[in-house]
Amino acid sequence: MTYARIIGVGSALPQQKISNLDLVQKGIPTSHEWIVERTGIVQRHFANANETSATLGLEAAQNALKMAGVLPQNVDLIIVATSTPDMIFPSTACLIQKNLNNTVAAAFDVQAVCCGFIYALSIAEKFIQSGTHQNILVIGAEVFSRILDWEDRATCVLFGDGAGAVLLTADEKTGILSSALHANGDLLPILNVPGQIQNGTITGDPFLRMDGQAVFRFATKAMANVAEEVMQKAKVSIENIQWLIPHQANIRIIEAVGKRLKIPFEKVVVTVAEHGNTSAASVPLALDVAVRDGRIQKGDKLILEAVGGGITWGAVLLEW
Ligand code: ACO
Repeated sequence: MTYARIIGVGSALPQQKISNLDLVQKGIPTSHEWIVERTGIVQRHFANANETSATLGLEAAQNALKMAGVLPQNVDLIIVATSTPDMIFPSTACLIQKNLNNTVAAAFDVQAVCCGFIYALSIAEKFIQSGTHQNILVIGAEVFSRILDWEDRATCVLFGDGAGAVLLTADEKTGILSSALHANGDLLPILNVPGQIQNGTITGDPFLRMDGQAVFRFATKAMANVAEEVMQKAKVSIENIQWLIPHQANIRIIEAVGKRLKIPFEKVVVTVAEHGNTSAASVPLALDVAVRDGRIQKGDKLILEAVGGGITWGAVLLEW
């Protein structure tokens, strides 16, 4: 049996840190207390004009390659999960491939919003299992600060920018043990950016729109259910999971999912306070933090999971 195994992880954050107080000082009618109480977010990073999904994704990918000890020219597939690509085309994956000086890899983007990294990881696993590809970079990279409406305090305080990446390789012993992906397009109204580019102008609304309470209700159930699903598929019980790495949208969603799954909260990786919601970057960013601070050890079983616009949701269970 061939498994897809993560052998390197990396991340990148824009230099500019924005505290809740900074948002208040920008004139947003909110408070540090409200944001912390409702979301757990203390700060987020915002990209400057020169930082994009491709530049942040490149840095995260370079860090993952360095940890893996794999040269960029030995990567044979690059998959980028992003809803904030640099251009309509080419894909952000092609921009990163160019800047890695890699001329051999296939490259494409995946659009599943905050669940994009989970989708991309699961797609990459299939390429490795089929035997066609050996070293795959899976990157989640976002600059959500570019699609926030600063007049909408219920959404603009929630998101941040960043990128995370993993290097997957074929392994005969262990790696990804199970995965599950889902979508329900009927739920489009509760989370979307409805604008389009037509004839050289943006038509419709170019900002993120969300029914926060509807997303909250859906996310808690969906993330608990999909975690159960991947555990059943892999025949692993919650007692044997060392780390849950959920999408970092809101501390209250994360706590509710943890309670439903009956997993002790010390086993849940939480970075929402420092990063805010970085959409497709949030899971690999959290993974990178917990690998580099030594919490995640060889042999640990992890569940990575997310919910995003679409609505999309999914999970991957793997052995480190
Ligand atoms: N600061 C101060 N007050 C605010 C703010 C703010 N930033 N935003 C809203 N309020 C006010 C509202 O106006 C409302 O005031 P009112 O009672 O006078 O009308 C009050 O706070 C309560 O508003 P609610 O919307 O009911 O607040 P709620 O408790 O539901 O919290 C939140 C809102 C934090 C958005 C919550 O619904 C949530 O976290 N939902 C999930 C959102 C999410 O995580 N989405 C992303 C997941 S998918 C993806 O990542 C793309």
